[in-house]
Amino acid sequence: MSKKLFIETLGCAMNSRDSEHMIAELHEKEGYETTTELEHADLILINTCSVREKPVHKLFSELGGFNKRKKEGAKIGVCGCTASHLGEEIIKRAPYVNFVLGARNVSKISEVLHKDKAVEIDINYDESEFAFKDFRSSPYKAYINISIGCDKSCTFCIVPKTRGEEISIPADLILKETKKVVNEGVKEIFLLGQNVNNYGRRFSGEHEKVNFTQLLQKLSAVDGLERIRFTSPHPFHMDDAFIEEFAHNPKICKSMHMPLQSGSTKVLRDMKRGYTKEWFLNRVKKLRQECPEVSISTDIIVAFPGESEADFEDTIDVVKQVQFDQIFSFKYSPRPQTEAEHFTNVVDSEVGSERLSYLQELQNSILDELHQKCLGKTYRVYFESLIKDNFISGRSDNNIVIKVKGSEELLGQFRDVKITEIGRTMLTGEIVA
Ligand code: 5AD
Ligand code: SF4
Repeated sequence: MSKKLFIETLGCAMNSRDSEHMIAELHEKEGYETTTELEHADLILINTCSVREKPVHKLFSELGGFNKRKKEGAKIGVCGCTASHLGEEIIKRAPYVNFVLGARNVSKISEVLHKDKAVEIDINYDESEFAFKDFRSSPYKAYINISIGCDKSCTFCIVPKTRGEEISIPADLILKETKKVVNEGVKEIFLLGQNVNNYGRRFSGEHEKVNFTQLLQKLSAVDGLERIRFTSPHPFHMDDAFIEEFAHNPKICKSMHMPLQSGSTKVLRDMKRGYTKEWFLNRVKKLRQECPEVSISTDIIVAFPGESEADFEDTIDVVKQVQFDQIFSFKYSPRPQTEAEHFTNVVDSEVGSERLSYLQELQNSILDELHQKCLGKTYRVYFESLIKDNFISGRSDNNIVIKVKGSEELLGQFRDVKITEIGRTMLTGEIVA
């Protein structure tokens, strides 16, 4: 009987891809198959996120639960960003943990598996020339890493400390991987990096200098590939050439993530984001001029140290002006090893919660209006998942999740769908062509 792996993945798309990679490594080198039953597992992995404090707190109670439920002799490994930043401390606090594997070291999974109490958390480890393994959780779309690490120094963010300096993966490797997955039937790729439009600034060896816009051009020439998505771009690097390529290249999906973080130029400066409120609004204007159908999503942090009522009003002003299609909003959470951890002009926690609720309510009302406008419109949907009650769901080019009545023969297919019903997270429609 094969050995069983239970893996829980928290955090961002980068982590999902890292988990896919570890599953493939463990399958190929160690003969593991995945299981969803923790009690059956020989190996339990948690791929953690450390971007905010709450999930880190939860980690230890979750580990305790896993330790009680696991079968005799099963190993527990903690991987990902919290592994990078807490390292050995994890084993000190939870001595039954067998190994700790940082976010930049996931390709060493089969090595650490055989070393009890191993802690591999080198953030300078270079995985950029390493072709990530093949296992993919979806046969219809493929996540493809284009860079690792992050060179920015946003004062709130722990990621440069957990994933290290930014290195781009050579374009020929990315192209090869894309062709391979397309040959296997994938029609949509999702390019991943902490800061995708900074692609090409640094390679680890001698490689063809290709920037992100050029990479998009190269990839879109791959026959059989129909859709390209990517996350996350940085507003600071959204030059005209990039926006024009995005708008006019028919294979690039018209959905842009533009992490605002704050609408106040003063707060943006304290966050070291490198742009102003005006620059952000100017980029949105250019984007909408070139590509009127684009949907724009964003990340916003409220109650960053020093955020006054007027600063928060600036954020609200940007939200009202831009009318984002989706906002991921967070209350600021101080993180170790970041500059802002030492800022003393802390915003009262209750004020932070009020600001967060206000922003989320405003966004809900904006969304209701935006969705009303979708009624009766037709979108090209790529179907990816079966969901309950005989529905099947997929995404439009501009990233709206849409469901229709249907079964598995629609999986991996494109159809035109007319919207008949709206909901907050998903729209319902019927196939028209
Ligand atoms: N506190 C709250 N939110 C944060 N993010 C990153 N660091 C923090 C923090 N310390 C948010 C940012 C980022 C998203 C992935 O998480 O908005 O874009
Ligand atoms: Fe992803 Fe950042 Fe969380 Fe790491 S800390 S899993 S990079 S969101």
